[in-house]
Amino acid sequence: MTESTKYLLSEDRMPRDWYNIMADFPEPMAPVLHPGTHQPVGPADLSPLFPDTLIAQEMTGERHVEIPTPVRDIYLLWRPSPLIRARRLEKALDTPAKIYFKYEGVSPAGSHKPNTAVAQAYYNAEAGIKRLTTETGAGQWGSSLAFAGSLFDLQVKVFQVRVSYQQKPYRQALMRTYGAECIPSPSDLTESGRAILAENPDHPGSLGIAISEAVELAARDEGTKYALGSVLNHVMLHQSVIGLEAMEQFELAGDDPDIIIGCTGGGSNFAGIAFPFLGAQLRGGRRRRIIAVEPAACPTLTRGRFAYDFGDTAHLTPLTKMHTLGSSFTPPGFHAGGLRYHGMGPQVSHALSLGLIEARAYQQLGCFEAAVEFARHEGIVPAPECTHAVKGAMDEALRCKEEGKAETILFNLSGHGHFDMQAYIDFFDGKLEDGDYDAAGAEAALAQLPQLG
Ligand SMILES: Cc1ncc(COP(=O)(O)O)c(C=O)c1O
Repeated sequence: MTESTKYLLSEDRMPRDWYNIMADFPEPMAPVLHPGTHQPVGPADLSPLFPDTLIAQEMTGERHVEIPTPVRDIYLLWRPSPLIRARRLEKALDTPAKIYFKYEGVSPAGSHKPNTAVAQAYYNAEAGIKRLTTETGAGQWGSSLAFAGSLFDLQVKVFQVRVSYQQKPYRQALMRTYGAECIPSPSDLTESGRAILAENPDHPGSLGIAISEAVELAARDEGTKYALGSVLNHVMLHQSVIGLEAMEQFELAGDDPDIIIGCTGGGSNFAGIAFPFLGAQLRGGRRRRIIAVEPAACPTLTRGRFAYDFGDTAHLTPLTKMHTLGSSFTPPGFHAGGLRYHGMGPQVSHALSLGLIEARAYQQLGCFEAAVEFARHEGIVPAPECTHAVKGAMDEALRCKEEGKAETILFNLSGHGHFDMQAYIDFFDGKLEDGDYDAAGAEAALAQLPQLG
C-alpha cells in the first residue's frame, strides 16, 4: 500500500470551540491602555469600533469559546483543511526529517483569513451593524472580509496599501466580485489619509496608515464598525481552529510535531497553528520548538522593541504592549505585503518575551528560492508571506540532515500565491532584491514611542 499523503478530518470532527491561550499563559499580559489617559481600557472604550461580543472575546480568559453554528456551517465550505506530508520535498532534500504542512489556501479567498473574517462578519451582523471598514496589505484579508460580508449582507469598504493595490489588480477584482469597495491608501477620504498625502502625494502607504483610515471612518459613523485581520486577541482566538484541527490530524498520522513554524505579519496564522500546541505544553505537555519567521526588511520580533505603541500611524488606536519598530515606520515595498506591519500581535509578543517561542528573520530572495523548490515538488505555489515559513521548514529539515536527526516539522502554509504571480515574475526576472531593514528609520520611529508616566 502507498503511504498516506493527506490527513483529512471528516466534517463532524471540525472543532466546536476555539482555543484561547490567555487561559494558559504563565504570566498575565500587560493591559491595553487608553491613548489619552494611559489607563487600562474598558469595553466602552472599544465599542465605537467593535460589537460587544468581539470586545468580550478580546478580553476573555476562558479557555474555550464556542464557535456559533452559522460560523461552523460556513467553515464547512472549506474546513477541515488538509494536513499534508511533503514526502516529495523530504526526498528532494534527502532529509531524515518528516515535513508536514497545514494548507489554508483551500479557503474561498485563498488563505487563513476567512477563519476570522466569517466570525467577525457574523458577530457584527448579529449586532445589527450594516457596514464594515478595514485595511488590507496583500489583499488576502480584504478579499476575505469581502467574502464574509457578502454572506451576511454587510457593505465592506477596504483601504488597500497603495503599493499592494498597484501590484495586485486581481485582488481588487476579487473584492469587487464579493461586492466590496476597494480604495488605495493613503486616500483623500479621511483626515489621516489627506495629512499623509499633503506631505507626500506619492506615499506608498503602509498597513499602519490604512488602519488609521479604516478606524477613522468607523469611529465617525454609528452604523459602521471596524474589522482587523490580525494582531488582536479575538483574531488569534478564531485562528486557533487551524492548530486544533492539526492536533487531531497528527493523531490520525500517528505522529507529533517537534517543531512548529509560521510566518508572522501581525501574528494570526502563526498563533493559529502554534497556540493550541503551546497551550498543551503550558498545561504540562511536552515542549516543542515554535518558530516565528518574519521578513528581514520588517523585523518586528527580532529587531523591534517590546514596548507600548499605537497600532496605527495616525494614533487613533489604543496602546498595546508589543514588539514594534515604531508606528511611523514605513516598511519598504517588498512583495510579502501581509508582513509589512510595524507591530506584532500582543499575544505573540508576550509569548516571545516569556521565552516560549523563537523568532528569526529572512531576506526575500532565499524565501522565493525555497518557495519555487517547494512548488516544484509539492505543486502548491505559496503566497509571498508564507514563503518565509517554507524556508524556515526547509532550513530545519536541512539541519536535521546535517545532524542525522529524524525530527517532525509542521509548518503553516497560510495561503496560495495565485494572485501574487507578479512577485514570482519579478523573482524570475531578477528584479527582486534583498535589503536590510531601514535601521535609521526604525530608530527615528522608536524615538517617538509614547511616553508613559
Ligand atoms: C497568506 C498570508 N499569510 C500570512 C499573512 C500575515 O498575517 P498574519 O501574521 O496575521 O497571519 C498574510 C497577511 O495578509 C497572508 O495573506
